[in-house]
Amino acid sequence: MAIDPFTLTIFGATGDLTHRKLMPALCALYARGLLPENFAVVGFARRPYDDVSFRNWMSESVRRFSTMKVPDDAVSRFLRHVYYHQGDFEADPHCFSAFRQRLLKETQWPRNWLFYLSVKADLFEVIIRALSEHGLARSTLDPLWSRVVIEKPFGRDLDSAQALNRTCLKYLDESQIFRIDHYLGKETVQNILSFRFANSLFEPLFNRDHVDHVQITVAETVGMEGGRGAFYDATGAVRDMVQNHMLQLLCLVAMEPPSRLAAQLVRNEKVKLLHAIEPPDPCQNPNVAVRGQYTAGEVDGRPVVAYRQEERVAVNSTTATFAALRLNIHTWRWNGVPFYLRTGKRLRRRVTEIMVQFKTPPLDLFETVECLGDVCRPVSARPNRLIFRIQPAEGITIRCMAKRPGLQVWVEEVPLDFLYSERWPGALPEAYERLLLDVMRGDTTLFTRSDEVEAQWRVVEPVVRAWDENDPRCPLRFYPAGSWGPPEASNVFVSQHTKWWNPET
Ligand code: BG6
Repeated sequence: MAIDPFTLTIFGATGDLTHRKLMPALCALYARGLLPENFAVVGFARRPYDDVSFRNWMSESVRRFSTMKVPDDAVSRFLRHVYYHQGDFEADPHCFSAFRQRLLKETQWPRNWLFYLSVKADLFEVIIRALSEHGLARSTLDPLWSRVVIEKPFGRDLDSAQALNRTCLKYLDESQIFRIDHYLGKETVQNILSFRFANSLFEPLFNRDHVDHVQITVAETVGMEGGRGAFYDATGAVRDMVQNHMLQLLCLVAMEPPSRLAAQLVRNEKVKLLHAIEPPDPCQNPNVAVRGQYTAGEVDGRPVVAYRQEERVAVNSTTATFAALRLNIHTWRWNGVPFYLRTGKRLRRRVTEIMVQFKTPPLDLFETVECLGDVCRPVSARPNRLIFRIQPAEGITIRCMAKRPGLQVWVEEVPLDFLYSERWPGALPEAYERLLLDVMRGDTTLFTRSDEVEAQWRVVEPVVRAWDENDPRCPLRFYPAGSWGPPEASNVFVSQHTKWWNPET
């Protein structure tokens, strides 16, 4: 699909996101020949750069953070499309008039407008209102378009998300709003739907008759690097990861197939699924959600401080850096199948995985063994597992049972593996490349719709409320950095035989 010439303005362009993710992604799209001949990227922020100094900085960003090798001459040609506009949109409401004038005056800047809000969440409404008041948020009837991309967090709770949606929808049409969840741009996340609905082999098994439970793990080794302490301390694991990224993963693995891959239809199915989730309330049942916080420990072989010792974190903070949740989905397909979600900072390994555990066969005909070389020991029967590895070592594994060669009738667990890097060598496109391209095309499929983001908040609302209030019925647990989280995380399991699936490689 041809992309119209556009001017992309990044509000908050001197922040981390622009130089680590957005510019490298834009440059990669340029190098792949996917951008139109006429386009401009304008960094808009308070700090005193000009076009030249901003380009110099961005050239460094692109070279440092690009996941693909972009030839130097392509980087230079790309940077000719990059500009800087200085203005303090937080303190000086008049800066929008000056910006508007420049937007209309610069002959190199095409008239389709894309505004990327990479700013503190409390500025979203201010900017959207100002865009409208300055005639920059055009109606969809105008042949030229205006679109707005909104980074997370979209609200702090259901009320604030609803208020923000009201402001957005007062000035813009839903089709002009792109609420970003960068997980949806990840190649392997998109593959969940392809894997489920492009094969007839697995989908018939994806239901309560065959699935025992599902685990979704987003484990990180990072802590509060890059001065994130203050933001994170006011946010916590549920708002940061569960409300958005993890619920999106859950939607993709559990939703019904849409009748076509159209934005509205895909998002309708996700919303239906989200509405079918019973919001876990830890005040009613402390075992549906467990919160944790890291203490000092060792990650990747180096010592790290406790969360409360991190820069810009309160010394008596009760913010959860770890969350484990049990979710029940009341649909015909999933009723009675628990979905377990777990995420945390400073865990043992960086890994994002969805593990679908199937029921064991009705009869235990074989002796199951676990072997180290030729030394085998009997173990209990193993269920089949289907594992979507989102990152790193992206791929899909099915763990099934096979007869071990030999005179005994023993079965052993073996993996059937599909690895992206083996099948398609070369770096996978960055999530932001895909998402920026979709914004330029006006395709909202991989973005969160207003009712969807509200439905996500509805699911986590009782948990964030109880944890914000530090409710003693659901106490904060501690875990050493470099572990898999607090042992109490296993309290969320319905069955005592269930264990967290902790990938060691
Ligand atoms: C962000 C969170 O949305 O996602 C961060 O704010 C988190 O806390 C990051 O580290 C994880 O993203 P990725 O792509 O590295 O898994």
